[in-house]
Amino acid sequence: MSEPGPSTRVVRAGLPEPQQGEPFLPGPVFAAPFHLTGDPYAAENAYTRYGNPTWRGYEDAVGSLEDAESVLFASGMAAASAILLTSLRPGSVIAMDDGCYHAVRRLAQEHLEPRGVEVRLAPPAGLAAAAEGADLLWLETPSNPTLEVYDIAVLAESGPVTVVDNTTAGPLLQRPLDLGAAYTITSATKHLSGHADLLLGYVSTRDPERAQELRDWRRDTGALPGPFEAWLAHRSLATLALRLERSCDNAMAVARLVAARDDVEGVRYPSLPDDPGHEVARRQMAGYSTIVSFDLGSAERAERFLAAARLVTDATSFGSVHSMAERRGRWGGDSVPEGFIRFSAGCEDTADLLADVEQALDSTRN
Ligand SMILES: Cc1ncc(COP(=O)(O)O)c(C=O)c1O
Repeated sequence: MSEPGPSTRVVRAGLPEPQQGEPFLPGPVFAAPFHLTGDPYAAENAYTRYGNPTWRGYEDAVGSLEDAESVLFASGMAAASAILLTSLRPGSVIAMDDGCYHAVRRLAQEHLEPRGVEVRLAPPAGLAAAAEGADLLWLETPSNPTLEVYDIAVLAESGPVTVVDNTTAGPLLQRPLDLGAAYTITSATKHLSGHADLLLGYVSTRDPERAQELRDWRRDTGALPGPFEAWLAHRSLATLALRLERSCDNAMAVARLVAARDDVEGVRYPSLPDDPGHEVARRQMAGYSTIVSFDLGSAERAERFLAAARLVTDATSFGSVHSMAERRGRWGGDSVPEGFIRFSAGCEDTADLLADVEQALDSTRN
C-alpha cells in the first residue's frame, strides 16, 4: 500500500491495538499516584508527574505525524520554555526571529538574558547573520501574526541547533524535522485540538536523549498537562485533516477577497502568488495554513470591522473551527500597524464566511 494520506494517518494516530470489548480510544486516566509495590522505576505508572498513560497515547499520536518522539506539556509556552531552559546556560547564545510569538521573545529577554544568555533578535533578512556562532536558532514559520516565511533547510544548515515553532502550520502542513531542525514545538491549543477549549503544547525531536531530557525537565518542573486535556486533544486529532482542509480553503478565499479590495492594505497569506513568502512556503509546506493578516488603516476601523462581523469572533487565538480575528495592536508587543487584523479562518461554509467578511468591510468603509 502507498503512504497513507493525512486523513488516514490522523484517524487512527496513537490508538491502541483493537481489543475485544475495549473502546477505540481509552478514556482519560485520572490518577496522581498509581498502585505501586517495589521498584518505582520499573513500573510504567508510578505517579503522574513521572508519566501518565493518557499523555503517552497522545504523544504517540502526534509523534507518529512527525516520525519523532513527542513530549507533551501543559501549554505551548511550557513546551517552548522546556527547550530553551534545557538547551541554554549562562554564556549561551540564542538567535531568534524578531517576529516570533511575543511570549517566547519575552521569555528570552526578561528571563534568560538576565541569567547570562545572549539573546540576538533579528529581522527576517538578518536572521542568518545573527545565527552565526549561536548555540540555538529559534524560528517561527509562518510567524504569528506577521506571516513571515523562513527557509528552514537553509537556516538549519547554518550551524546552530535549530528549533522551529510549528504552531501556525502544524505537523500535517509542515515537517521541519525533515528539513534539518532538531526540535519542533507546537502549541496544540490551536489547530491540533481545534475547538478553542484547552491549552496544550508539545516538543518533537528525533534524538532520544533530547526527548528524555525534556521528560526529565517536565518531571522536575511540574509543567504537566491534565489527562482530560490530553484526551480531548487526542479525540479531536482524528478530524485535523478535515478541519484544515476547510479552514485553509476559507483562508484562501478570505485572502483573495481582501486582496482584491482597495480599502484593505498589506494583505499577507503565503498562498497568494505575490506574497513575499510564497516561493519558500510552496517548497516546504503541504498547505498554507489558516491565518490571513491585513491592515484596515486605523484602530478605529479595525474595531468597527470586528464588531460588524457576525461569523468572526473577536478573540485572541487561531486554529479553531470558529473563525476568529483580532486587532493585534491592542496587546502591544508586536510591531504591527494599529489597524492590523490577524484573521483565523474556521470551518464555516465558505460562501457564508465571505459574505460576512464582505458586509463587515463594506459597512466600515471610510
Ligand atoms: C506561534 C505560537 N507559539 C507558541 C504559542 C504559545 O502557546 P500556548 O498559548 O498554548 O501557550 C502561541 C500561542 O498563541 C503561538 O501563537
